[in-house]
Order: sequence, then structure tokens, then C-alpha cells
Amino acid sequence: MLVSLAQATYVVAAVLFVLSLAGLSRQESARRGNVLGMVGMALALLATVVLAVDVSERSPLVTLVLIALVFAIGATVGTWRARTVEMTQMPELIALLHSFVGLAAVLVGFNSYLTSEPDVVHQIEVFLGVFIGAITFTGSIVAFLKLSARMASAPLVLPHRHLLNLAAVVVSLALMVVFVVTDGLVPLAVMTVVALALGWHLVAAIGGGDMPVVVSMLNSYSGWAAAAAGLMLSNDLLIITGALVGSSGAILSWIMCRAMNRSFVSVILGGFGAEGGTVASAGGPQGEHRETHAPDVAELLADARSVVIVPGYGMAVAKAQYPVADLVQRLRARGVQVRFGVHPVAGRLPGHMNVLLAEARVPYDIVLEMDEINDDLAETDVVLVIGANDVVNPSALEDPGSPIAGMPVLEVWKAAQVVVFKRSMATGYAGVQNPLFFRENTAMLFGDAKERVEQIVAALAARSPSGVG
Ligand code: TAP
Repeated sequence: MLVSLAQATYVVAAVLFVLSLAGLSRQESARRGNVLGMVGMALALLATVVLAVDVSERSPLVTLVLIALVFAIGATVGTWRARTVEMTQMPELIALLHSFVGLAAVLVGFNSYLTSEPDVVHQIEVFLGVFIGAITFTGSIVAFLKLSARMASAPLVLPHRHLLNLAAVVVSLALMVVFVVTDGLVPLAVMTVVALALGWHLVAAIGGGDMPVVVSMLNSYSGWAAAAAGLMLSNDLLIITGALVGSSGAILSWIMCRAMNRSFVSVILGGFGAEGGTVASAGGPQGEHRETHAPDVAELLADARSVVIVPGYGMAVAKAQYPVADLVQRLRARGVQVRFGVHPVAGRLPGHMNVLLAEARVPYDIVLEMDEINDDLAETDVVLVIGANDVVNPSALEDPGSPIAGMPVLEVWKAAQVVVFKRSMATGYAGVQNPLFFRENTAMLFGDAKERVEQIVAALAARSPSGVG
């Protein structure tokens, strides 16, 4: 009775996961999507415990105590990390979590191999599950190291790297045949080592601006690794959930590739922008830049009719979204048209800027995508580039030799005036110098973005102490 109830709960959880994804597709319904996902996961965990107690050969009490122990450790570490993680560290945390899924698939695979009778279908499931899991595990660790700047973001360019990848796949296929025929531990173990190295190399070879695709690609891999684990464990819900994550990650990777004008294959093959041995370099200064100060920017904004704000990773670092929301409110109260232009890969996570702006309660209808705002930039009086760099780099369009060549960018230089908020002349994530900073209509406002925006808000308030503007 309890077992069939648990099976039915799996179906309910699967439906909730689908509804959750549907909810997450729009900002207005994202909160509901999250709640549905959480309820689905709670039900899934409950049902899994019931089923685990049912199949366990130990006494139900021992099984329950063991599960409770694992839950307690996982929940404590998870809650602590979720509460302490900074929004800017979210991408690294997600990359690390993907590595756990990969590791879990490897461990489930070995466990399943050691505890089941040989059967060709099951052997293939085990082999593929371990293969995908191992690639996801090391690939995600490299992504974590790169995103947290513990490893250089530049691509690792080994000689004959495509051949090395191909050789790893061919050797793994040969090992699969040996494994199916002999059912031996050795081919499985050797393939695991090969797949671990392949995962490491695949992501190490991807550099600079292509990392967004890697994050969503690993998200997809982790889904397939979970689905493979579901096949090995004959757990339908895990298969469904894994397939949902795998396919949504694949769709996201495709969207990211389109946003960056990259072909998916060239990203996975890695080292884009490093062909012929040239790696992304910081480049030297390209001329004279002009500096401005907060009161002058306040003056400029007070006289403007239309303003576009382009946020980037620096806004997240500075946590400047709150004063930015305040600034927007003041300018709108003065009758200035204010809109945001968000690049699909701004920040370090898909939707990073949208989350920050929603957190600061910026109205959704003034937050526009790059494609929606690019044509309006030429008629804009002032563009404020707040902590963004690569996503407003004109060399992506003008310099075919640039490592980010071909990536569509927000063409902010077409506006009458551009103000760039950053702390120094340092490069952005892709490590490429930005000619925007040296254009005649660009002024640099150096310093922490949050402090500078607060100063501008104060200067505007001083102009009209009544509170309007
Ligand atoms: P970036 O090109 O990384 O530039 C961020 C800028 O913010 C830096 O130039 C930095 O300059 C400035 N900054 C940092 N802290 C600041 C602070 N406290 N106050 C003011 N400025 C600050 O950012 P972007 O334009 O958003 O581009 C995103 C990049 O990340 C792209 O190359 C993209 O491919 C990559 N990426 C994206 C993702 C996703 S999915 N979105 C994932 C991985 C990688 P200073 O140091 O001089 O202040």
C-alpha cells in the first residue's frame, strides 16, 4: 500500500517538475515555479525514502537512521552554503553542484556493476552512466576553478587537442566492447580514468567568453548523468528529472550559443579564439581616456530625456542594484525615460542581471533584452555602463582578430554620451581590452559602482530636495 502510494507520488512529483520549469520560463511566474519545484522535490525525497526502506535488506529502523544521517549532513552543509553564498559566487557553486551529480553517477555505476548480475543492457547502462558522470565530474571542477578565478580562464591549448579528444572517445568505445564481452572491472576502471581526463581537458580547452555555454552544457551533462543513474537504479523519477534537466540545459546551451554567435560544436571542441596559437591577451592601452565625476554625471542625467543602463558583472560585485533602482526611480519621477539593456551573457550566470534587478524591485517592463534595445541606442542621450565590459566591447564587431569577434554586443557607443562605471582600466572576463573606453563620447567614472551611484543619487537629491529627482 505504502509502496504503491510512493510510486504514485513519483508521478505527482514529475508533473510538479514540469510545471516548475514552465513557471521558471517567465520572471513573473518564476517564484511560483520555484515553489512547485521545491514541493515536487520534497515529495520525491519522501517517496524515495519509503521505497528505499522497502527494498533494503537491513531492518527498516537501521535504513531510516542511515538515511536520516545522510539527510542531516547534506541539509546542514546545503543550508549553510545557500545562506552564506554571495550572488556573485552562484555560478561557481552551481558548477560545483554539477560535479556532485557527475560523481554520484560514477559511484552509482560502480555500485550497480558490483551488485548486479551481468546483463548486456545493464552493462551498457552502467558503462554510459559512468562515462557521462566522469566527464561531468572533472569538467565541472575545472569550470568551478575557472569561474572562481582559481585557474586562468584562458584556454589550455595542447598540441593535437582534437585528436586527443577523439582518441579518448575511440578508446572508451573499444573498452565498452571489452566490458560487455568480459564483464571485467578493469575496462570499466580504465574508461573511468580516460573519461575523467577527457572531462578535464574538454573544459580546460574552452576559454574566456565561451564559459557561459560551458556552464549550461555541464548543466545538461549533469541531467544526462542523473538520467543514466536513474536507468541503472530503475528509478523512473530520476530518469524523468534527468531528462528534463538534460534537455533544458541543452536548449539553454543552444540559446547561449546563438546569443554569442558561436556554433555549439566549435564551443565544445574548445579553444575558440586560440587557433593558430594566439590566446586572449589583455592588450595595452589604446589611447587617452576621459575621466568624469559623480556630480557631473548627475548633471548629465538631470538634463537627459532618455537613459539606458547596461548592467554587468561589476554591478553584482558591488551590489549596486539597490542604489541603481533608487536612481531609476528618481529619474523616472523627473520624467526621464529610463530603460535597462541586458546582454544574454552579462554577469556570470544566465539571467544573472535579471535576478539582481528583480531583487531590487526594478519594474520588469523597463528591463529589455539586447535585441530589443540595440536599435534605440543611437537615439539615447546617456548610456550608463555599470560594471559591464565584454558585453559592450566594440571590437567584437570591428576586430575580426579579437577573441570575442562575432559576439553580438550592446552598441552603446552609438548613444550621445556614455559613462562607464568601473574601478580601473582592467579588462573584463574575456581578458580583452575595450576600445569603448577611449572613444570621444565615453567618460570613465572610476570607483566602486555602488558608491558612485549613491553619490549620483545624493547629487540629484541635492538639486531638488523636495524629493522629485
Ligand atoms: P565583465 O566583462 O566580466 O566586466 C566586469 C567589469 O566590472 C570589469 O571590467 C570590472 O572592472 C568591473 N567591476 C568589478 N567590480 C566592480 C565594482 N565593485 N565596481 C565597479 N566596477 C566593477 O562583465 P560583463 O560585461 O557582464 O561580461 C560578462 C563576461 O563573463 C563575458 O565575457 C561572458 O562571456 C562571461 N561569462 C558569462 C557567463 C554567463 S552565463 N553570464 C558565465 C561565465 C562567463 P574593474 O576591475 O576595473 O572594476
